[in-house]
Amino acid sequence: MKLNIAVLAGDGIGPEVTAQSIKVLKAIALEFDHSFNFKYAPVGAVAIDETGDPLPEATLELCKNSDALLFGAIGDPKYDNDPSAKVRPEQGLLALRKSLGLFANIRPVKAYDALLSKSPLKKDIIKGTDISIYRELTGGIYFGKKELSEDGNTASDLCEYSRNEIERIAHLAFKAAQSRRKKLTLIDKANVLESSRLWRKVVKEVATNYKDIELDFLFVDNAAMQMILNPKQFDVILTENMFGDIISDEASVIGGSIGLLASASVGDKYAMFEPIHGSYPQATNKGIANPIASILSAAMLLDHFDLNDEADLIRTAVDKSLALHITTPDLNTKYDNITTTKVGDFIADFISNPTDSNHN
Ligand code: IPM
Ligand code: MN
Repeated sequence: MKLNIAVLAGDGIGPEVTAQSIKVLKAIALEFDHSFNFKYAPVGAVAIDETGDPLPEATLELCKNSDALLFGAIGDPKYDNDPSAKVRPEQGLLALRKSLGLFANIRPVKAYDALLSKSPLKKDIIKGTDISIYRELTGGIYFGKKELSEDGNTASDLCEYSRNEIERIAHLAFKAAQSRRKKLTLIDKANVLESSRLWRKVVKEVATNYKDIELDFLFVDNAAMQMILNPKQFDVILTENMFGDIISDEASVIGGSIGLLASASVGDKYAMFEPIHGSYPQATNKGIANPIASILSAAMLLDHFDLNDEADLIRTAVDKSLALHITTPDLNTKYDNITTTKVGDFIADFISNPTDSNHN
């Protein structure tokens, strides 16, 4: 298969973790006789520095002319100290999601057997956890009307959803549940919010097309508690934009490091693959950033094009690296010299020589 992949490595550790995914994708291309063509473009703080715009027109053009996007990370401390800055790196990511219509963000969360002791949660609580979070990504409070009164003392952010925005992601989530354990949990705040009541109504209607799926509902406050009390109860989670943002960071604790969590953002036309972690500026260029979230995002990219054997081989290689403690310091207790690049090398090498005895 021939794929044109736009690489938006972004800020902080973005470039170094993305470099490992590209290495891994190149190994896959060689092994399976595919042709992956990578084109690079700036986004976020680096793009502001270069052009004044966190999502330059040329970057968006490249994305629109590519089959898929590989995204690194966004954010820079120089903007965090001034939240009122008119131009912020995060706007680049939000504009990208909106302009490309990436309405569904899929975030798999699982507890790896090799890492059960790395989570602060008890092993018997997390063992076997396997969740797929469907977070709505282009609506809700993130994109509603924002207002600040003239005197600067009153501010508001509107949380708005329409039936169509709920239906289209609900269908994707129900279909995902059909190929999994056939359970879907809608997380909302329908006891308080009108927008949540619309989510419930529409999701119940969509559910009539998926009679094989068990549907239940949780208020977001209770869901946050259930996520660490008994995460195994969840199969597919469906939720709106901001609840999904919060719940997925919470869920990352189950895996033992946020450096493991991959995601896919998909729409009708485009698809982007990105780790859920941020730009981790303190770690930039120290060789300590975990590349696995980015590498697993590359696996999701392959799945998107039905290259499932290829994606599975990446996951097998990742499992192997975890089992052998070929991991960065956020996870590692056995060796203290495993860098970002070494993890990428190990995984790419495993793909090229899966039966090599050096891996055992
Ligand atoms: C995420 C991030 C973004 C979000 C930020 C960087 C705008 O936290 O992808 O989860 O809130 O969606
Ligand atoms: Mn987030």
